[in-house]
Amino acid sequence: MYLEKFRLDGKLAVITGAARGIGLACAEALAEAGAAVVITDMNGEAAMQAAATLTARGFAAEAAMLDVTDPRAVEALQEAVIARHGRVDILVNNAGIAISNRPAETMDDATWLKVVDVNLNGTFWCCRSFGRSMLEKGRGVVVNIGSMSAEIVNRPQEQSQYNASKAAVHQLTRSLAAEWAPRGVRVNAVAPTYIETELNAYVYNDPEMYRHWVGGTPMNRLGKVDEVASVVLFLASDASSLMTGSIVLADGGYTCW
Ligand code: NAI
Repeated sequence: MYLEKFRLDGKLAVITGAARGIGLACAEALAEAGAAVVITDMNGEAAMQAAATLTARGFAAEAAMLDVTDPRAVEALQEAVIARHGRVDILVNNAGIAISNRPAETMDDATWLKVVDVNLNGTFWCCRSFGRSMLEKGRGVVVNIGSMSAEIVNRPQEQSQYNASKAAVHQLTRSLAAEWAPRGVRVNAVAPTYIETELNAYVYNDPEMYRHWVGGTPMNRLGKVDEVASVVLFLASDASSLMTGSIVLADGGYTCW
C-alpha cells in the first residue's frame, strides 16, 4: 500500500529547466515512477537530447523549448500540452540561475533583474498557467525548487538577489498552497543545499569557498542531484497527500548550524 503511493503511472509531468542538472534528475525520477514527462528548457536542443535519452531507456518523454521568463510562451506551452495530453498532473518549477560574488552595493541593475526574473517571475508564470488548468480539473501538484539560500545567507559569496528570489519562491509556494488547497491543488517546495551541478561548478576553482561550503555542512559534503529528485518524487506523489505549503529542506544539515 505504501510503496504504491509513490507510483505516478498515467500522470503527466512538466519540468522546467530540465535539460540538465537537478531538473533532468527530477524528470528521470518522475519517469521511473511511471509518469510521462515533458522536458522543457530554454536550451531546446539540450531538452531534445535529454528527452531522447529517457525515451531510449523506455520512458515516456518529450521535449519543448521554454524560456520561463516569457509569460506568453509559458501560456502557449500550457495550451499545447493540454491540447495534446488533456491535462497536466505535475509541474516542477526547477528553472533557475545564480550569479554569485556580487556585493549588493555595486550590483548592476541587469544582474538583479535577471536573477529575479528567472527564479521568481518564471516560477510564477508557470504556476499561473499550469495551475489554472489543474484547478479546472480539480487536482494537481506543483513542486517548486527553492533553496536553503532562502533561509540562510550563504558565505563567503555575496548573492543577495539569488537569496531574495528564492525566499520569494518559498513564500509564493505557501501563498499558492493556501489559495489552491480547497480546490485540490497542492504546492510544495524543496530547499536544497549546494548540489554538484554546473550551476556552482565554479567552486572547484576556489578551494577556500569549497572549504566554507563543505565545512558549513554537518554531513561534510555537497549534495547530488538524485538526492533532490527523490524529495521531488515524494512531493509529486500521493505519498505526500497531506502536505501543502511545505518547504522541505534537503541540506545535509547546513541550516542546523
Ligand atoms: P543548472 O544550471 O545545472 O541547470 C539549470 C537549467 O535551467 C539549464 O538547463 C538551463 O538551460 C535552464 N534554464 C536557465 N534559465 C532558464 C530559463 N529562463 N527558462 C528555462 N530554462 C532555463 O542548475 P541546477 O544546479 O540544476 O539548478 C536547478 C535549480 O535548483 C535552480 O532553480 C537552482 O536555483 C536550484 N538550486 C540549485 C542548487 C545547487 O547547488 N545546484 C542549490 C539550491 C537550489
